[in-house]
Amino acid sequence: MKNTNKISFVLDQKIVDIDFDLLSPTTTVLNYLRSGPFHRGVKEGCAEGDCGACTLALGELQEDGSIRYKAIDSCLVFLPQLHGKQLITVENLSSKAETIEQLHPVQKAMVESNGSQCGYCTPGIIMSLFALYKNENKPTRESIDDALTGNLCRCTGYKPIIEAASASCAHHSQDQFTLNEPAIAALLRQIQQLDDEKKLVHQNQVYFLPTRLRQAIRIRQSNPRALLISGSSDVALRVTKKHEVLPEILDISSLKDLKHFSISENAVTLGAGLSLEFIRTQVRDVLPALFDTLSVFGSRQIRNVATLGGNLGSASPIGDTLPILMAYGAAVVLYGPQGTREVLIKDFIVGYRKTVIKPDELIAAVIVPIPMDEMHIKWYKISKRKDLDISTVSGGFGLRVSDGVVSEIVLAYGGMAAQTKRADKTEAFLLGKPWSREVVEEAMLILYNEFEPLTDARASAEMRKISARNLLLKFWSETNTQKVVAS
Ligand SMILES: Cc1cc2nc3c(=O)[nH]c(=O)nc-3n(C[C@H](O)[C@H](O)[C@H](O)COP(=O)(O)OP(=O)(O)OC[C@H]3O[C@@H](n4cnc5c(N)ncnc54)[C@H](O)[C@@H]3O)c2cc1C
Ligand code: FES
Ligand code: FES
Repeated sequence: MKNTNKISFVLDQKIVDIDFDLLSPTTTVLNYLRSGPFHRGVKEGCAEGDCGACTLALGELQEDGSIRYKAIDSCLVFLPQLHGKQLITVENLSSKAETIEQLHPVQKAMVESNGSQCGYCTPGIIMSLFALYKNENKPTRESIDDALTGNLCRCTGYKPIIEAASASCAHHSQDQFTLNEPAIAALLRQIQQLDDEKKLVHQNQVYFLPTRLRQAIRIRQSNPRALLISGSSDVALRVTKKHEVLPEILDISSLKDLKHFSISENAVTLGAGLSLEFIRTQVRDVLPALFDTLSVFGSRQIRNVATLGGNLGSASPIGDTLPILMAYGAAVVLYGPQGTREVLIKDFIVGYRKTVIKPDELIAAVIVPIPMDEMHIKWYKISKRKDLDISTVSGGFGLRVSDGVVSEIVLAYGGMAAQTKRADKTEAFLLGKPWSREVVEEAMLILYNEFEPLTDARASAEMRKISARNLLLKFWSETNTQKVVAS
């Protein structure tokens, strides 16, 4: 194993090396930049992915040699996750024509639309707009809103910021990043050519950064206490909020083997290391209910790093992808020393934050069957606010009605038990019965008594039981084909 105890990335158009003799590998990108003098535009608001004041852009080299830019919350990204990438801060956006500083089009538009008052949020908003500018020409209002979901501004109000987004992204011209792209791509290739697995050691911490799946499994076998991380959007909070020192980390975010995506006639295969934002953009037509789920999942900054493997691996009872994948009847592909094995997602979770993953395995992929035409799949999320909030109660529901009766039903709930759980008794009652309002109202009574949820800060047990019951009625009203005649 080559171990230089360093990682390298591009910043200010130069290769920067970070030496972990000096820094902890769980230093966040935000804290690293704020501890130096040149990149202090980035701000800390919450240190938990909620405010977007720390938003930066990452440039990632694509197979065709181009660079793809994405906004990230730098408070949740550890330094080694920058390896082989370009880091772009608000200080990098303006350019110089002769001696005159030229603002980037998104900065200019923010000035012209009066999109900033106190300015604390502004650098983060600029970076989100920059990523939008680089990825979309004439974005829809839906896309602008989504790009800004992860940025809170409490002074200006969003109208001028949205105007700035529309104005700057409406007439695309080449910016300095387009012009510099070949040079930056050459630097990134230079870093990546030297790539081998890394073992970064700092005092009492060790951080493994493998580049191949087999290496990852070998490290998992020899370091059973190493905490697996992928996007780190869950795990980083242990460092930023609980101030834990994580002694051993196995970072699998560089494993290309986990980023496979394919669509066949019958199924979509999603690599566990794919970002949720990538998946969202690919599945709109083929798995629309998964698209709906991911459209109200965190923010664009969170989805740009958070992975499907991480959401399933966290096994949270309010994790959003579990119920909807249960409704689709998906299977989880696990990889370990003996190769791969498939587990149906209904058998994957076995208790509070417990899965069937063995200590030397990891999630490699998820296979989602493409539903036949007559299958209805829907996703519902109840949370205190629509955007950037985790579920109070969620439902992933599937239904097939054949010859006038229910022939297949899945009612998978999040937030109703210690684990994502199907309403077995209610499903059994509905099977073979007509999908009518009368039958569904009887089923709602069974459902109300089927779960004993918790009361917590998000909701009382009673509110959860009522919500779960009413979601079934909503599902019926959105899927019953009987015409309602207005009286
Ligand atoms: C601001 C904010 C908003 C959020 N919003 C939502 C939301 O709307 N809905 C929601 O469900 N969650 C939400 N989350 C939680 C989190 O973003 C998701 O659970 C995310 O999918 C985790 O993915 P990750 O790759 O970042 O996981 P990580 O933090 O890297 O890992 C999470 C867990 O999964 C395990 N793991 C990671 N990859 C694998 C693998 N391949 N195989 C086995 N185990 C693995 C890790 O060991 C760890 O225990 C939010 C988090 C934040 C900070
Ligand atoms: S500091 Fe608030 S999202 Fe990072
Ligand atoms: S300008 Fe003050 S919070 Fe946005």
